[in-house]
Amino acid sequence: MSRLNLNGKTIEVRSAPATPLLWVLRCELKMTGTKFGCGVGVCGACTVHVGKQAKTSCQETLADIGASSVTTIEGLQGPHVRALKEAWLRIDVVQCGYCQSAQLMAASALIRRNPRPSVEEIDCAMHGIICRCGTYPRIRQAILEATGQVRSS
Ligand code: FES
Ligand code: FES
Repeated sequence: MSRLNLNGKTIEVRSAPATPLLWVLRCELKMTGTKFGCGVGVCGACTVHVGKQAKTSCQETLADIGASSVTTIEGLQGPHVRALKEAWLRIDVVQCGYCQSAQLMAASALIRRNPRPSVEEIDCAMHGIICRCGTYPRIRQAILEATGQVRSS
């Protein structure tokens, strides 16, 4: 048994301390909003927040996380998240949707630490999350709109 501070609640999980968080979320807790892509830290599909940082959950074990807070797409909230979601819908960012939980996790971590990121800062923060559908230009536009740097059309 391990303790996990997840989406604002401390819970007990059966998984061993060496288990990667992604497996705990999807296999034990059946929280499938966090996606499995590569399992080896290269696609970014499994991105969650550990503390205030966006991290790939396939690369963080329960032992690594310890008492740090974990936020998944199911628990992501706040005014900046609402602004992102509204911009995402307005621009119709999503294609197949597979990568989009991770894109929102990375975007929200970015604008929480940098409320008005430049295009270069957006591209740098988002570059680790692969979108096979190529939604990158719409993601960039949505972040710029959500942060009030361009007007919505
Ligand atoms: S599944 Fe974690 S980085 Fe690809
Ligand atoms: S929307 Fe399909 S992989 Fe990104």
